Amino acid sequence: MRSKIVVSLLVLGSIFCLSLANAFADDIDTEEIYAEKCALCHGDDGKGTDAGKGFGTKDFTDKEWQSSRTDDEFVNSITNGNPDNTNYLPFGDMLSEEEIKAMVPHVRAFAH
Ligand code: HEC
Repeated sequence: MRSKIVVSLLVLGSIFCLSLANAFADDIDTEEIYAEKCALCHGDDGKGTDAGKGFGTKDFTDKEWQSSRTDDEFVNSITNGNPDNTNYLPFGDMLSEEEIKAMVPHVRAFAH
C-alpha cells in the first residue's frame, strides 16, 4: 500500500517536472527571435542574405563549418559578437542567456 503511494507520487512528480520543462521551452520562440533579429543577416534559409554576406556571415547549412564550431563558441559569439569583426553585433543586451542558448540548436538545425 505504502509503496503504491510512493510510486504515484513519483509519477505525479515527474509529470509535473515535464510540464514545467515544456512551459519553459515554450516561452522561448526561437522561430520568432530568428525572424526578428537574425534573418536580416543570416537569411530565412540560414545561408546569409546579401547584406549579411557583406558583413562576413557563414553559411549555416554548411555541415563542415558547423562541425568546426562548438556550441560554446556559438553562445559566446552571439552574446559578445566577434572582436575581430565589428560588423557582428553582440546580442548579450538584447537576448537573455536562455534565449541565446536556445538559438544554438536553431542554428544547428539549418545543417540537418
Ligand atoms: C548585422 C548582421 C547580423 C545579425 C543581425 C546577426 N548576425 Fe550572426 N553573424 C553575423 C556575422 C557577420 C557573423 C560572422 C562573424 C565572424 O565570425 O566573423 C555571424 C556569425 C554568427 C554565428 C557563428 C558564430 C561562430 O562562433 O562561428 C552564429 C551562431 C550566429 N551568427 C548567430 C546569430 C543569431 C542567433 C542571430 C540573431 C539573434 C544573429 N546571428 C544575428 C552577422 C549577423
